[in-house]
Amino acid sequence: MAEMTTGTLPLRHAAIIMDGNGRWAKKRALPRSAGHVAGVRTTEKIIEYSCKIGLEYLTLYAFSTENWKRPESEVSGLLNLLNSYLDRLVSRLREDNPVYRYAAIRFLGDLTPLSEEMREKIAVSEAFCRSKPEIRTHVNIAFNYGGKDEIVHAVNRFISENPGKQIDEKALSSYLYFAGQPDPDLIIRTGGEMRLSNFLMWESSYSEFYSTATLWPDFSPKSFNEALTAYSSRSRRFGGV
Ligand code: FPP
Repeated sequence: MAEMTTGTLPLRHAAIIMDGNGRWAKKRALPRSAGHVAGVRTTEKIIEYSCKIGLEYLTLYAFSTENWKRPESEVSGLLNLLNSYLDRLVSRLREDNPVYRYAAIRFLGDLTPLSEEMREKIAVSEAFCRSKPEIRTHVNIAFNYGGKDEIVHAVNRFISENPGKQIDEKALSSYLYFAGQPDPDLIIRTGGEMRLSNFLMWESSYSEFYSTATLWPDFSPKSFNEALTAYSSRSRRFGGV
C-alpha cells in the first residue's frame, strides 16, 4: 500500500481518543451505556472509512488502565459491550462484511483480566485477519491499555530476557505492544479535552495533536477529513529546523 499523503505531508498512522460517549447520552437523557453503544457504531464507520482512504494504521483507545476506576456498573457494561462487539466482529469477519473487508484488527494492551472466552474470540479474530488476501488498514484497538503500563511491561520483559544488560531506545521500542508499527503521525481527541490521558506515551513524542469538540458518537468520515486537513497544514520538524 502506497503511503497516504495529506497535501504534502505523509500520514501512515492516525490514533484516536474516542471521548464523549457519556455526554452524548446525557444530552439525550439516555444512560451512559447508550452512548457507548452509539460509540461502537462510530468506531465501525471510521474503520471502514480508514480502509477506503487507504490509511495504513488506525489506533483506537477503547479502554484505559485507569477506566477500571469508573463505577462497577459502567465497567461491567463496557466489558459486556466488548464481549458483544467481539461476537459481532467474529461473525462480520466470517461473512466478509464491508466494514472489516480490508481491515486487520488487533487488540493491544494488558488483556489478562479478560475472560478466557473473550481472549479466545480476540485470538480467532486476529488469526482470521492475518490470513486475509488484502489488508489496507491495520486497526489497533487499545483495550486495558496505558502508555506507562506499556513501558513498564516492555522494560520488565527486556530485563527478564537480557539480564544485566542496559536498555536503549531501539530495544525498548521492540518490546512495546506497538513494536514494529510506525509512531502515530496524528492523534485525534474527540469531546473537546486537550490531554493525552496516558495514551501512547512513548510513541507520541512527535505526533501532531488535534482536538475537536465533536462527541465520539457524532464523529463521522467528514469530521475525520477535517482532522486530516488540519494535519496537512502542520509543519513537522521533529526537533530540527
Ligand atoms: C469515553 O467516553 C469512552 C470510553 C471510555 C469508552 C470508549 C469505547 C467506545 C467508543 C466503544 C468502542 C469499543 C469497542 C470495544 C470497539 P466517556 O464515557 O468518557 O464520555 P464522557 O467524557 O462524555 O463522559
